[in-house]
Amino acid sequence: MTAPARPVVELAGVSKTYGDVAALRGADLVIRRGELLAIVGPSGSGKSTMLNIMGTLDRPTAGMVRIDGHDVATLSDRELSALRAGTIGFVFQQFHLASGIPALDSVADGLLYSGRPRGVRRHLAEQALRRVGLGHRLYHQPHQLSGGEKQRVAIARAVLGDPPLLLADEPTGALDSRSGAIVIELLQELHEAGTTVVVITHDRDIASTLPREVRVKDGLIEHDSGGPDGGDPRLLVPEEAVR
Ligand SMILES: Nc1ncnc2c1ncn2[C@@H]1O[C@H](COP(=O)(O)OP(=O)(O)OP(=O)(O)O)[C@@H](O)[C@H]1O
Ligand SMILES: [Mg+2]
Repeated sequence: MTAPARPVVELAGVSKTYGDVAALRGADLVIRRGELLAIVGPSGSGKSTMLNIMGTLDRPTAGMVRIDGHDVATLSDRELSALRAGTIGFVFQQFHLASGIPALDSVADGLLYSGRPRGVRRHLAEQALRRVGLGHRLYHQPHQLSGGEKQRVAIARAVLGDPPLLLADEPTGALDSRSGAIVIELLQELHEAGTTVVVITHDRDIASTLPREVRVKDGLIEHDSGGPDGGDPRLLVPEEAVR
């Protein structure tokens, strides 16, 4: 039997409150390298809160969050930014592309602070755009792209540095079903190439095609179809074993 892949996300007893709103109420979840999973649940159930905490965009009120083996509570904001930049790509429902900027530059700007020269940044951006099937749209601005194409530009930007973890919050929410299907296929391809992919979706058809489904309700995980270890938090590996 092969050893299970090491966890890239570990949440143990994670809660998040905003004032008197309990958005998450003790979530336990282990995601291992190479997984592709859907997070589903009603509006307001805490899905985005959970994804933002996994993405280190937000800190939990209580509980433990370990990303790629690092306990985020022990990291300064600066260390957290470095971990995020090197480990996590984000895709959102709204594509967040600056108007008037050609696709190639939108993507290349993701490497602005990488210390790489402009020519290299643009070369890597072109490769990423080809990877998402947009080699023929390098110089199109957002208003000249379809919704599905805009989302593919956003995905190219998210995977530019080849992060091991890709977090997508309703990536097909603003798309028609055909463009949505293309985006999901693309996420599946990235997964097959080794990226761990977490997708929040309202679409039950999409969720049911993915290998693992985590259902969130009222700030709790009410069902987990199971990853390699069934998502059992008792199987959290000790930190010294992770590295
Ligand atoms: N910054 C915030 N301040 C106050 N309350 C918040 C904040 N962010 C989220 N909430 C509340 O926390 C709860 C969970 O929100 P969250 O955005 O995680 O839900 P969601 O499952 O992603 O919903 P949707 O499917 O509509 O996107 C909601 O009741 C929401 O109103
Ligand atoms: Mg949400």
